[in-house]
Amino acid sequence: MSILAIDAGTTGVTAVVVTRDGRIAAKGYQEFAQHFPRPGWVEHSPEEIWQATLEACREVLAQVDRAELEGIGITNQRETVLLWDRETLGSPRRAIVWQDRRTADVCTRLREAGHEERVTELTGLRLDPYFSGTKLAWIAEHEPHTWALVEDGRYAVGTVDSYLVARMTRGLHHVTDVSNACRTLLMDLSTGDWSEELCSLFGVPRDALPDLVPNWGELAVTDPRSFLDLSLPIAGLAGDQQSALFGQTCFDVGDSKCTYGTGSFILTNCGTELPRSDAGLLSTAAWRSPDGELTYALEGAIFVTGAAVQWLRDGLQIVGSAAETAAIAATVPSSEGVVFVPALTGLGAPDWDPHARGLIIGVTRGTTRAHLVRATLEAIAFEVRDVLETMPAALSSLRVDGGASANDLLCQVQADQIGVPVERPRLVETTALGAAFLAGLGTGVWSSTDELRDTWALDRSFTPGRDRTAYDSAHARWRAAVERSKGWALV
Ligand code: G3P
Repeated sequence: MSILAIDAGTTGVTAVVVTRDGRIAAKGYQEFAQHFPRPGWVEHSPEEIWQATLEACREVLAQVDRAELEGIGITNQRETVLLWDRETLGSPRRAIVWQDRRTADVCTRLREAGHEERVTELTGLRLDPYFSGTKLAWIAEHEPHTWALVEDGRYAVGTVDSYLVARMTRGLHHVTDVSNACRTLLMDLSTGDWSEELCSLFGVPRDALPDLVPNWGELAVTDPRSFLDLSLPIAGLAGDQQSALFGQTCFDVGDSKCTYGTGSFILTNCGTELPRSDAGLLSTAAWRSPDGELTYALEGAIFVTGAAVQWLRDGLQIVGSAAETAAIAATVPSSEGVVFVPALTGLGAPDWDPHARGLIIGVTRGTTRAHLVRATLEAIAFEVRDVLETMPAALSSLRVDGGASANDLLCQVQADQIGVPVERPRLVETTALGAAFLAGLGTGVWSSTDELRDTWALDRSFTPGRDRTAYDSAHARWRAAVERSKGWALV
């Protein structure tokens, strides 16, 4: 018995097959193009996301016995919005990605008109271009011909999960779950349903949105004509960060994880009480069970961490791969005063400034690429520390996962910065694992969360070093640099 889990992330699609004993039996991966049509804009081609999904799944299916598969779990980059034709499933425009900053002015206008307090009360979010609502309002304003077809029902609106379900079911299903819906600015967090008030504020017709389904159960069935000759239940669905929380088996109140992906996201399970933060954290839905119980989380969303490493590789071309950054950074004992604030798409938690831009400071004639690479890894650790310092309760340890958690130097710097052990599990593809767990609960591969908890195994714990004065002064220098990066897009 096994589950096919699809993790449609920001830079690529991972597909894994997870066995009943919690092992990853096979893996496939396909990257897709990032489009930057203007400074601050980020787009993806929906068709490329779909083709990458098919490719990653083909790769993984070639390594396993299809007859063993019980169901499919899907997890995805959140907030990114897509439109597609309900008949042809083709998209009239590219997806606007969560990192896209084009709606900073829309947010300012709404804030100046006095809407922020009510939006936050209903959604647990803030007015920031990160979330989907203003991206949809932007399409409505700038592409009225396209939007007219949304309004007359021909085009469906959704996030990446609902788009993939539509493609896999040949258009039969248009669904999403609370963990994705709550990031659109259109869902009432207290009820877990679309809000008429918010739909009208952002000008999005309620009927264009997907139906909300629980996070596990028989949610849809794939059509073999569209999806690799497979007719299987799609039995688990969740946004990637909530999926990672599930994959790390953070089922109890206070359990927390940090996923290092394109960005980094720290989530703490808050149970069934809707949490509130006035310190820059987001209130978010974690998951909803088939019997309707809604679990919440507090989230610190950091926009650029792995993407900064990707920029070193693709933009500056000073490293050949993300994997070699640990070795390069280890050739110098410190960044020697170089600080890199990777505000490449503005700043998320806890500073929230869409007008901030990346900053490299402290450069001297002695600075080498090793210092900059080290400063990049340190920046990731500083950003995570900033978020943890705003969490209401101090942690006794932090569970990490995602690609960069394989980087020992980063994990050690992270532990030094936060002053508590950093725990890395044996499986760091936790996002995909979470989707597999959800689908496994939905199909009966696993019968309870207790059974899932038993599959978690520690790979390594990184203990904080003793030199707190040095760690704190490096962090203070970082904070001074963050302040300097703010508002730069307006200068
Ligand atoms: O909120 C954005 C997040 O869902 C993207 O995650 O893993 O693609 O960086 P990731």
